[in-house]
Amino acid sequence: MNFDRHRRLRSSAAMRDLVRETHLNKDDLIMPVFVDANITGKTEISSMPGVFQFGIDSVLDEIDEIVKLGVKSVIMFGLPDHKDEVGTGAWEDDGIVQQAIRLIKKNYPELIVIADTCLCEYTSTGHCGVVKDGEVLNDESLTYITKTAVSQVKAGADIIAPSNAMDGYVASIRAGLDEAGFINTPIMSYAVKYASSFYGPFREAADSSPEFGDRKGYQMDPANRLDAMREVLSDEKEGADFVMVKPSMAFLDVMREIKNHTVLPLVAYNVSGEYSMIKAAAQNGWIDEDKIVQETLVGMKRAGADLIITYFAKDVAKRINEGENF
Ligand code: PBG
Repeated sequence: MNFDRHRRLRSSAAMRDLVRETHLNKDDLIMPVFVDANITGKTEISSMPGVFQFGIDSVLDEIDEIVKLGVKSVIMFGLPDHKDEVGTGAWEDDGIVQQAIRLIKKNYPELIVIADTCLCEYTSTGHCGVVKDGEVLNDESLTYITKTAVSQVKAGADIIAPSNAMDGYVASIRAGLDEAGFINTPIMSYAVKYASSFYGPFREAADSSPEFGDRKGYQMDPANRLDAMREVLSDEKEGADFVMVKPSMAFLDVMREIKNHTVLPLVAYNVSGEYSMIKAAAQNGWIDEDKIVQETLVGMKRAGADLIITYFAKDVAKRINEGENF
């Protein structure tokens, strides 16, 4: 009888470790942080158990915990104390994210602080750009998005991560940063951003739901694969330094395809709805949270992700510190 004995390489834990192809380590993790101009202390996000919004008075406590666990980068989101048509709170010098970045970089200069660059938390319409006659205008929005990026870097951001899904934002931000003298600040583009229902809990966390309509006129159709390639090709041409796929779990095929076609570092965003689903099922005792988190995040690495933005970053770092082989 002649057949292959695949089980030879699965015969013991040590044997399995010997042939294991994919690992996750702490350097791969980026932790999201929400800072809210309207609160002091911290408020738990009801649809994201274990994730909090922080007031400017308490954000350093969270950062301290993150740093001590050995997570080396965070991505910042802000909830401003006022919203208007052009999202002024996103780009003013004393905006909530700018204040938080200044404070964090002063106290933790080594930490990589990434700024999410979008208008949806700051516009009265809740859209990611400026709206006229019910339409989200592309080129007009770039002006404000670029102002936002420049002000975030002025405040000390190490990386700009534009998530607004307008066309040409990489080119526009690159030109704006270069002109302001920030030639060395990288752009982590949310290149492949689907119009996804998995962002639901985030919109509570960041108070950024659109007042009318949806984001399908600028974010991508989840049914499309080639559109993802077109987005990546554009962003590479425009000067992106990283490309991202978002969400993750339903888009691992797209991640792999992009990994096979780009030489840029690839980022996976394990989004809010993905986090909440796992938390909810685990709280009901239906799944084993630790094991599911491990399988999910290692799956993203196997699919080609070099870095993962995840609300589980602190939990994972803790487990790695305790000696778990991730
Ligand atoms: C801002 C932005 C969103 C997310 C990251 N940046 C929401 C959206 O596009 O509606 C979602 C992140 C998550 O769900 O965890 N545009």
